[in-house]
Amino acid sequence: MFPGLFREEREVETVITPRIQRGLAWTRLRPGSRSSLSLDLIAEVSNAGVKQKGIPEETWEPNSETAPAGSSMFDLEQTIRERHSIRLFLSQPVPPELINEALALAVLAPSNSNIQPWHLVLVSGPARERLVQALLEAAQKGPPNIPPLPESFKHFRSELGAQVYGAMGIPREDKAGHQAAVLRNWEFFRAPLGGVVCMHRDLGLADAVGVGMFLQTFLLALTARGLGTCLEVSITGYPEIVRAQLAIPAELSILCGVAIGYPDPDFPANKLHVGREPLRENIVFLDN
Ligand SMILES: Cc1cc2nc3c(=O)[nH]c(=O)nc-3n(C[C@H](O)[C@H](O)[C@H](O)COP(=O)(O)O)c2cc1C
Repeated sequence: MFPGLFREEREVETVITPRIQRGLAWTRLRPGSRSSLSLDLIAEVSNAGVKQKGIPEETWEPNSETAPAGSSMFDLEQTIRERHSIRLFLSQPVPPELINEALALAVLAPSNSNIQPWHLVLVSGPARERLVQALLEAAQKGPPNIPPLPESFKHFRSELGAQVYGAMGIPREDKAGHQAAVLRNWEFFRAPLGGVVCMHRDLGLADAVGVGMFLQTFLLALTARGLGTCLEVSITGYPEIVRAQLAIPAELSILCGVAIGYPDPDFPANKLHVGREPLRENIVFLDN
Protein backbone atom coordinates (compact mmCIF):
# COMPACT_ATOMS: atom_id res chain seq x y z
CA MET A 1 0.00 0.00 0.00
CA PHE A 2 1.27 3.48 -0.85
CA PRO A 3 1.58 5.72 2.23
CA GLY A 4 -0.44 8.53 0.63
CA LEU A 5 -3.44 6.21 0.43
CA PHE A 6 -3.93 5.87 4.11
CA ARG A 7 -4.53 7.93 7.16
CA GLU A 8 -7.95 7.87 8.51
CA GLU A 9 -8.34 7.62 12.21
CA ARG A 10 -9.93 4.20 12.21
CA GLU A 11 -7.37 2.77 9.92
CA VAL A 12 -4.60 3.88 12.20
CA GLU A 13 -6.29 2.09 15.07
CA THR A 14 -6.59 -1.18 13.26
CA VAL A 15 -2.99 -1.01 12.15
CA ILE A 16 -1.42 -0.23 15.47
CA THR A 17 -3.51 -1.13 18.46
CA PRO A 18 -3.97 -4.89 17.98
CA ARG A 19 -0.26 -5.46 18.53
CA ILE A 20 -0.41 -3.61 21.78
CA GLN A 21 -3.72 -5.09 22.90
CA ARG A 22 -2.38 -8.57 22.50
CA GLY A 23 0.70 -7.77 24.46
CA LEU A 24 2.93 -8.15 21.43
CA ALA A 25 5.37 -5.81 23.04
CA TRP A 26 8.64 -4.98 21.39
CA THR A 27 11.82 -6.05 23.05
CA ARG A 28 13.10 -2.92 24.69
CA LEU A 29 16.27 -1.73 23.05
CA ARG A 30 17.90 1.63 23.50
CA PRO A 31 15.95 4.60 24.71
CA GLY A 32 14.83 6.57 21.70
CA SER A 33 14.85 3.62 19.32
CA ARG A 34 11.65 2.68 17.50
CA SER A 35 11.10 -0.24 19.79
CA SER A 36 10.94 1.79 22.95
CA LEU A 37 7.67 3.48 21.98
CA SER A 38 5.69 3.71 25.18
CA LEU A 39 2.07 2.72 25.68
CA ASP A 40 1.26 6.41 26.20
CA LEU A 41 2.60 7.16 22.80
CA ILE A 42 0.62 4.32 21.24
CA ALA A 43 -2.55 5.67 22.84
CA GLU A 44 -1.73 9.01 21.32
CA VAL A 45 -1.14 7.41 17.95
CA SER A 46 -4.48 5.63 18.04
CA ASN A 47 -6.23 8.96 18.51
CA ALA A 48 -4.42 10.85 15.82
CA GLY A 49 -2.72 10.65 12.47
CA VAL A 50 0.39 8.56 12.58
CA LYS A 51 3.21 10.81 11.50
CA GLN A 52 1.58 14.10 12.26
CA LYS A 53 1.09 13.67 15.97
CA GLY A 54 1.76 10.19 17.18
CA ILE A 55 5.40 9.43 16.63
CA PRO A 56 8.00 11.87 17.86
CA GLU A 57 10.34 13.40 15.32
CA GLU A 58 13.40 11.59 16.61
CA THR A 59 11.91 8.19 15.74
CA TRP A 60 12.18 9.08 12.06
CA GLU A 61 15.83 10.01 12.27
CA PRO A 62 18.51 7.51 11.29
CA ASN A 63 20.03 6.06 14.42
CA SER A 64 23.61 7.27 14.49
CA GLU A 65 24.41 4.93 17.38
CA THR A 66 23.86 1.89 15.23
CA ALA A 67 25.24 3.20 11.93
CA PRO A 68 28.75 1.76 11.63
CA ALA A 69 31.31 4.52 11.21
CA GLY A 70 33.17 4.43 7.91
CA SER A 71 31.07 1.58 6.51
CA SER A 72 31.03 1.12 2.75
CA MET A 73 29.13 -0.87 0.16
CA PHE A 74 31.95 -3.37 0.15
CA ASP A 75 31.27 -4.20 3.80
CA LEU A 76 27.69 -4.85 2.85
CA GLU A 77 28.69 -6.98 -0.12
CA GLN A 78 31.07 -9.04 1.99
CA THR A 79 28.39 -9.61 4.60
CA ILE A 80 25.84 -10.66 1.99
CA ARG A 81 28.32 -13.10 0.49
CA GLU A 82 29.36 -14.42 3.89
CA ARG A 83 25.84 -15.20 5.17
CA HIS A 84 24.93 -18.81 4.62
CA SER A 85 22.96 -21.38 6.55
CA ILE A 86 24.74 -22.91 9.53
CA ARG A 87 23.62 -26.37 10.61
CA LEU A 88 25.70 -26.98 13.73
CA PHE A 89 26.47 -24.41 16.41
CA LEU A 90 28.78 -24.19 19.41
CA SER A 91 27.17 -23.97 22.85
CA GLN A 92 28.94 -20.62 23.42
CA PRO A 93 26.27 -18.12 24.50
CA VAL A 94 25.25 -15.29 22.22
CA PRO A 95 25.96 -11.85 23.76
CA PRO A 96 22.58 -10.11 24.20
CA GLU A 97 24.03 -6.78 23.06
CA LEU A 98 24.76 -8.26 19.63
CA ILE A 99 21.17 -9.39 19.32
CA ASN A 100 19.93 -5.97 20.39
CA GLU A 101 22.16 -4.24 17.85
CA ALA A 102 21.01 -6.56 15.08
CA LEU A 103 17.35 -6.07 16.03
CA ALA A 104 17.76 -2.29 16.06
CA LEU A 105 18.95 -2.55 12.46
CA ALA A 106 16.41 -5.18 11.41
CA VAL A 107 13.44 -3.00 12.41
CA LEU A 108 14.63 -0.41 9.88
CA ALA A 109 13.42 -2.79 7.15
CA PRO A 110 10.64 -1.48 4.90
CA SER A 111 7.11 -2.79 5.26
CA ASN A 112 3.71 -2.26 3.70
CA SER A 113 2.22 0.92 5.26
CA ASN A 114 5.02 0.72 7.83
CA ILE A 115 3.00 -1.94 9.64
CA GLN A 116 6.21 -3.62 10.77
CA PRO A 117 4.46 -6.97 10.62
CA TRP A 118 7.28 -9.03 12.13
CA HIS A 119 6.88 -10.63 15.50
CA LEU A 120 9.82 -12.58 16.83
CA VAL A 121 9.93 -14.74 19.95
CA LEU A 122 13.51 -15.41 21.03
CA VAL A 123 14.17 -18.33 23.32
CA SER A 124 17.26 -19.40 25.25
CA GLY A 125 18.18 -21.14 28.52
CA PRO A 126 15.65 -23.43 30.21
CA ALA A 127 12.79 -22.15 28.00
CA ARG A 128 14.73 -23.25 24.91
CA GLU A 129 15.53 -26.61 26.55
CA ARG A 130 11.85 -27.28 27.26
CA LEU A 131 10.87 -26.35 23.70
CA VAL A 132 13.59 -28.51 22.16
CA GLN A 133 12.68 -31.51 24.36
CA ALA A 134 9.02 -31.22 23.41
CA LEU A 135 9.84 -30.86 19.70
CA LEU A 136 12.25 -33.82 19.72
CA GLU A 137 9.67 -36.01 21.44
CA ALA A 138 7.09 -35.04 18.83
CA ALA A 139 9.55 -35.57 15.97
CA GLN A 140 10.30 -39.07 17.24
CA LYS A 141 6.59 -39.91 17.36
CA GLY A 142 5.54 -38.66 13.94
CA PRO A 143 6.42 -36.56 10.89
CA PRO A 144 6.10 -32.76 10.98
CA ASN A 145 3.11 -31.12 9.38
CA ILE A 146 4.85 -29.10 6.68
CA PRO A 147 3.00 -28.58 3.39
CA PRO A 148 4.79 -30.41 0.57
CA LEU A 149 6.48 -28.39 -2.16
CA PRO A 150 4.59 -28.24 -5.45
CA GLU A 151 5.77 -30.98 -7.80
CA SER A 152 7.67 -28.66 -10.12
CA PHE A 153 9.80 -27.30 -7.26
CA LYS A 154 10.59 -30.61 -5.54
CA HIS A 155 13.85 -31.11 -7.38
CA PHE A 156 15.31 -28.08 -5.59
CA ARG A 157 14.86 -29.81 -2.26
CA SER A 158 16.47 -33.06 -3.38
CA GLU A 159 19.39 -31.23 -4.98
CA LEU A 160 19.90 -29.19 -1.80
CA GLY A 161 19.58 -32.33 0.35
CA ALA A 162 22.25 -34.09 -1.71
CA GLN A 163 24.62 -31.14 -1.18
CA VAL A 164 23.90 -30.63 2.51
CA TYR A 165 23.99 -34.30 3.52
CA GLY A 166 26.94 -34.85 1.19
CA ALA A 167 28.82 -32.06 2.98
CA MET A 168 27.89 -33.70 6.29
CA GLY A 169 29.44 -36.94 4.99
CA ILE A 170 26.17 -38.86 5.21
CA PRO A 171 25.76 -41.32 2.33
CA ARG A 172 22.35 -41.62 0.64
CA GLU A 173 21.68 -45.08 2.05
CA ASP A 174 22.54 -44.10 5.66
CA LYS A 175 18.98 -43.75 6.96
CA ALA A 176 19.98 -43.43 10.62
CA GLY A 177 22.54 -40.72 9.77
CA HIS A 178 19.91 -38.80 7.81
CA GLN A 179 17.39 -39.14 10.61
CA ALA A 180 19.88 -37.85 13.19
CA ALA A 181 20.76 -34.87 10.99
CA VAL A 182 17.11 -34.04 10.35
CA LEU A 183 16.32 -34.22 14.08
CA ARG A 184 18.89 -31.49 14.73
CA ASN A 185 16.42 -29.11 13.07
CA TRP A 186 14.28 -29.32 16.21
CA GLU A 187 17.28 -28.58 18.41
CA PHE A 188 17.87 -25.33 16.51
CA PHE A 189 20.98 -27.15 15.28
CA ARG A 190 22.21 -26.90 18.91
CA ALA A 191 22.25 -23.09 18.73
CA PRO A 192 21.90 -21.57 22.22
CA LEU A 193 19.42 -19.01 20.87
CA GLY A 194 16.34 -19.93 18.90
CA GLY A 195 13.69 -17.74 17.40
CA VAL A 196 10.16 -18.21 16.16
CA VAL A 197 9.08 -15.75 13.48
CA CYS A 198 5.39 -14.86 13.39
CA MET A 199 3.01 -12.48 11.68
CA HIS A 200 -0.58 -11.53 12.44
CA ARG A 201 -2.88 -14.07 10.77
CA ASP A 202 -5.01 -11.35 9.12
CA LEU A 203 -2.09 -9.92 7.19
CA GLY A 204 -1.28 -11.02 3.67
CA LEU A 205 1.41 -11.75 1.14
CA ALA A 206 2.71 -8.18 0.91
CA ASP A 207 3.17 -8.18 4.68
CA ALA A 208 5.03 -11.48 4.56
CA VAL A 209 7.41 -9.63 2.22
CA GLY A 210 7.96 -7.14 5.07
CA VAL A 211 8.75 -9.94 7.51
CA GLY A 212 11.23 -11.31 4.97
CA MET A 213 12.92 -7.93 4.71
CA PHE A 214 13.19 -7.74 8.48
CA LEU A 215 14.63 -11.24 8.59
CA GLN A 216 17.25 -10.74 5.93
CA THR A 217 18.35 -7.49 7.58
CA PHE A 218 18.49 -9.30 10.93
CA LEU A 219 20.53 -12.18 9.49
CA LEU A 220 22.97 -9.84 7.77
CA ALA A 221 23.43 -7.76 10.92
CA LEU A 222 24.11 -10.97 12.87
CA THR A 223 26.52 -12.20 10.20
CA ALA A 224 28.40 -8.90 10.34
CA ARG A 225 28.82 -9.52 14.08
CA GLY A 226 30.35 -12.97 13.59
CA LEU A 227 27.21 -14.96 14.33
CA GLY A 228 25.78 -17.79 12.27
CA THR A 229 22.12 -18.35 11.48
CA CYS A 230 19.73 -20.78 9.85
CA LEU A 231 16.10 -20.14 9.07
CA GLU A 232 13.92 -23.16 9.71
CA VAL A 233 10.54 -24.01 8.25
CA SER A 234 10.96 -27.26 10.20
CA ILE A 235 10.07 -25.43 13.42
CA THR A 236 6.57 -24.86 12.02
CA GLY A 237 6.03 -28.62 11.70
CA TYR A 238 4.65 -28.98 15.23
CA PRO A 239 2.77 -25.72 15.68
CA GLU A 240 0.76 -26.73 18.76
CA ILE A 241 3.94 -27.49 20.66
CA VAL A 242 5.59 -24.22 19.67
CA ARG A 243 2.46 -22.26 20.60
CA ALA A 244 2.06 -23.98 23.94
CA GLN A 245 5.71 -23.71 24.93
CA LEU A 246 6.12 -20.07 23.93
CA ALA A 247 2.57 -18.85 24.64
CA ILE A 248 2.10 -17.73 21.04
CA PRO A 249 -1.51 -16.56 20.63
CA ALA A 250 -3.81 -17.87 17.91
CA GLU A 251 -3.78 -14.43 16.23
CA LEU A 252 -0.20 -15.00 15.14
CA SER A 253 0.72 -17.29 12.28
CA ILE A 254 4.04 -19.05 12.73
CA LEU A 255 6.17 -18.48 9.62
CA CYS A 256 9.48 -20.10 10.47
CA GLY A 257 12.14 -20.59 13.11
CA VAL A 258 15.64 -19.19 13.26
CA ALA A 259 18.73 -20.65 14.90
CA ILE A 260 21.36 -18.15 16.07
CA GLY A 261 24.80 -18.83 17.50
CA TYR A 262 28.49 -19.24 16.79
CA PRO A 263 29.10 -21.74 13.98
CA ASP A 264 30.96 -24.94 14.84
CA PRO A 265 34.11 -24.50 12.72
CA ASP A 266 34.77 -28.26 12.65
CA PHE A 267 31.45 -29.15 11.04
CA PRO A 268 32.21 -29.43 7.31
CA ALA A 269 28.65 -28.62 6.18
CA ASN A 270 28.99 -25.20 7.79
CA LYS A 271 31.40 -24.28 5.00
CA LEU A 272 28.88 -25.09 2.30
CA HIS A 273 27.79 -22.17 0.13
CA VAL A 274 25.08 -23.53 -2.12
CA GLY A 275 24.78 -22.15 -5.64
CA ARG A 276 22.04 -20.08 -7.23
CA GLU A 277 20.17 -20.27 -10.50
CA PRO A 278 21.44 -18.04 -13.30
CA LEU A 279 19.72 -14.62 -13.16
CA ARG A 280 17.86 -15.30 -16.42
CA GLU A 281 15.84 -18.04 -14.69
CA ASN A 282 14.13 -15.60 -12.33
CA ILE A 283 14.61 -12.09 -13.65
CA VAL A 284 13.03 -10.58 -16.75
CA PHE A 285 14.07 -7.27 -18.30
CA LEU A 286 11.51 -5.69 -20.60
CA ASP A 287 12.44 -2.49 -22.34
CA ASN A 288 10.15 -2.03 -25.28
C1 LIG B 1 11.88 -19.64 5.01
C2 LIG B 1 13.08 -20.56 5.06
C3 LIG B 1 12.96 -21.78 5.69
C4 LIG B 1 14.06 -22.64 5.78
N1 LIG B 1 13.94 -23.82 6.46
C5 LIG B 1 15.02 -24.61 6.63
C6 LIG B 1 14.92 -25.79 7.42
O1 LIG B 1 13.88 -26.12 7.98
N2 LIG B 1 16.04 -26.55 7.59
C7 LIG B 1 17.24 -26.21 7.01
O2 LIG B 1 18.21 -26.94 7.20
N3 LIG B 1 17.35 -25.09 6.24
C8 LIG B 1 16.29 -24.29 6.05
N4 LIG B 1 16.39 -23.12 5.32
C9 LIG B 1 17.67 -22.74 4.74
C10 LIG B 1 17.69 -22.94 3.22
O3 LIG B 1 17.84 -24.29 2.92
C11 LIG B 1 18.84 -22.10 2.66
O4 LIG B 1 18.59 -20.74 2.92
C12 LIG B 1 19.01 -22.27 1.16
O5 LIG B 1 19.34 -23.60 0.86
C13 LIG B 1 20.14 -21.36 0.64
O6 LIG B 1 21.33 -21.64 1.33
P1 LIG B 1 22.10 -20.55 2.19
O7 LIG B 1 21.16 -20.02 3.23
O8 LIG B 1 23.26 -21.31 2.79
O9 LIG B 1 22.55 -19.48 1.26
C14 LIG B 1 15.30 -22.26 5.19
C15 LIG B 1 15.39 -21.02 4.54
C16 LIG B 1 14.30 -20.18 4.49
C17 LIG B 1 14.44 -18.83 3.81
